Amino acid sequence: MPAEIPDTTPRRALVTGAAGGLGREVALQLARRGCAVAVTDINGEGLTETARQIGQTGAEAEIIVSDFTLEGAPEAAVEKVVARWRGIDILVNNAGYGVIEPFLDATFKAWTRTLALNVTALAMACKAAGRVMREQRSGRIVNITSPGSRMALPDYTAYTASKAGVDSITRAAAVALAPYGVLVNSLAPGMMDTEMQRSTEVDLARANGRNDLQAFLDERTRRIPLGRRAEISEVAEAVVWLCLDAPQYMTAERLNMSGGLDKD
Ligand SMILES: NC(=O)c1ccc[n+]([C@@H]2O[C@H](COP(=O)([O-])OP(=O)(O)OC[C@H]3O[C@@H](n4cnc5c(N)ncnc54)[C@H](O)[C@@H]3O)[C@@H](O)[C@H]2O)c1
Repeated sequence: MPAEIPDTTPRRALVTGAAGGLGREVALQLARRGCAVAVTDINGEGLTETARQIGQTGAEAEIIVSDFTLEGAPEAAVEKVVARWRGIDILVNNAGYGVIEPFLDATFKAWTRTLALNVTALAMACKAAGRVMREQRSGRIVNITSPGSRMALPDYTAYTASKAGVDSITRAAAVALAPYGVLVNSLAPGMMDTEMQRSTEVDLARANGRNDLQAFLDERTRRIPLGRRAEISEVAEAVVWLCLDAPQYMTAERLNMSGGLDKD
């Protein structure tokens, strides 16, 4: 058998919601694995810091400041990546928004904003990257979902419904792109102490009339079978595994990274 020739082509990645939290960590880990990484977010300052850290790894970075809820924004971000690197190999749809709102006080504004980012923008990004990947006959897309997508959480229904939408889009995109060798999977992180999680739990405590925030947080942590919250870095490792290392036969999968909280 001929010796395998190592593929040294830097893989071209786009990570959304990469101004901090999980997105920044995924971008950095991809950069350390030799990818060229474009990072996009509504928060330009956070992106500049992410790009600075990517630069320290020696990888190329591209900053795309964008409000993904605007029509055409996801497509424009993908176009920018393709214009710079002539293609796109990896898309991580990580940008997310959620707000605590009791079901019977639901507002049009909260639902619209949540669905615009978590569902519509994600679908448009999958479509735009998927069209390029179809021509390339290769590519991987990873969508960030949540254990909440399969739970009844009456204080967080717009968010959980939007993540059920992510699961649905992942399945459809995986089937649409399978004939071209493009893989689409999702990953459900458990509780990670990011900005989003922290402010959500403060609001959740308030909505439940709990003034003892730390006790409330500890109770929630105790519900996790592994008995602790997830490190952002370990969740990012699993995302990067799906992007770079998962077998070529794995598509339409939903990977649980929630310490046993989410099981099936
Ligand atoms: N933290 C957790 O415990 C947890 C659990 C399950 C799932 N998730 C999911 O993980 C992903 C990352 O979340 P995180 O915890 O790192 O939170 P985060 O708030 O750090 O990241 C979300 C990012 O999305 C960006 N964003 C928000 N609105 C945007 C818009 N209109 N256009 C472009 N970007 C926008 C934010 O600026 C932010 O940088 C999200 O999809 C979230 O739903 C998080």
